[in-house]
Amino acid sequence: MLVLGIETSCDETSVALVENGRLLGEKLATQIDTHALFGGVVPEIASREHLRVLPRLFRELMAETNVRPEDIDTVAVARGPGLLGSLLVGVSFAKGLCLSTGASLVGVNHLWAHLLAPGLAGEIQFPALGLLVSGGHTHTYRIDSPVEFELLGRTLDDAAGEAFDKVAKLFHFPYPGGRFIDMLGREAEPDTKLFPRPYIDNDSLDFSFSGLKTAVANYVATRPELVFDTMADAVAVASLSGEKRADLAKVCASFNWSVAETLKIKVERALKRVGPTKSLIVAGGVAANSVVRETMQGVAEEHGLRLTLPDLALCTDNGAMIAFAGWQFAKAGYVHSLELEAIPRGQVIPQDWAISGE
Ligand code: KG4
Ligand code: ZN
Repeated sequence: MLVLGIETSCDETSVALVENGRLLGEKLATQIDTHALFGGVVPEIASREHLRVLPRLFRELMAETNVRPEDIDTVAVARGPGLLGSLLVGVSFAKGLCLSTGASLVGVNHLWAHLLAPGLAGEIQFPALGLLVSGGHTHTYRIDSPVEFELLGRTLDDAAGEAFDKVAKLFHFPYPGGRFIDMLGREAEPDTKLFPRPYIDNDSLDFSFSGLKTAVANYVATRPELVFDTMADAVAVASLSGEKRADLAKVCASFNWSVAETLKIKVERALKRVGPTKSLIVAGGVAANSVVRETMQGVAEEHGLRLTLPDLALCTDNGAMIAFAGWQFAKAGYVHSLELEAIPRGQVIPQDWAISGE
């Protein structure tokens, strides 16, 4: 079964082909540089960019893989959560393709796709506990199979990646700044007393990162010498030196620690609630963070779980994960009609598929 995946939910446009669970090819165009000028994703610009590059990426993918559009069995498209205008570009393209080729359509929950992505590299063992840490979401799930997800905890305010990016912005690091905090943090030991581990003194599985961001903002206000005068670029951050670099490294390491330890506490709490679990899946852009990866490795070892982490290229948004999730849904017989709706961030994604043959 040949599945095309289409991803346009935020600021990456991507298409990929998966045949029987194996990746045949992928094309990806990121808009990061365009949005960096504004310090965050501008929704209208994002939709226009998807519209501009998606047809070209599709044509290139077909040419590079020697596949004809009419060979595609299923078109899988990220139908949410995301920016509505951006999602609509992908969903409309998918529907048009299905109409013209007769392929079947399957709408993919972008968050589930992040968590299933490591399956491209090796089989995932179920039941699994899933931690999704991205720019827009911090969710934990009990996952019984590729099509059975139960949401356990979620963020009440900022997502983990959003907290990274907002803290990076305080220093005038370029957007999205999470990776610069990670890079500098690796050069120092954390001061575990510097910042709180937010929202842990309760029995909730939910997260709240906005207080941590405020704690860093208050600290930075007392250390103005750590902040770049104007928005820095990646080269300026990489060429930091001397005391400023060492001090910033300490602050970044401490922030990294607070986020990773908070994630650990909530994941361990979730593990206790859900009962026997075979693996721990950590996915989303923040799963690229070295402290988060190390900390989750420790959690998995302590609890005798197999740790499943996507390769770094699969952590951020990509078409391969949509194609792979779509393949699993199609294999289970799930299809959507051409009425499929795009679902913006903040709304529940309905499980409104039909089972083929029923
Ligand atoms: O999953 P993703 O590509 O986009 C969403 O779907 O939201 O995640 C992007 C997020 C951004 O907030 C980015 O700063 C963060 O992942 N990120 C990192 C690292 N690499 C990417 N955060 C911390 N450390 C990193 N190494
Ligand atoms: Zn994502």
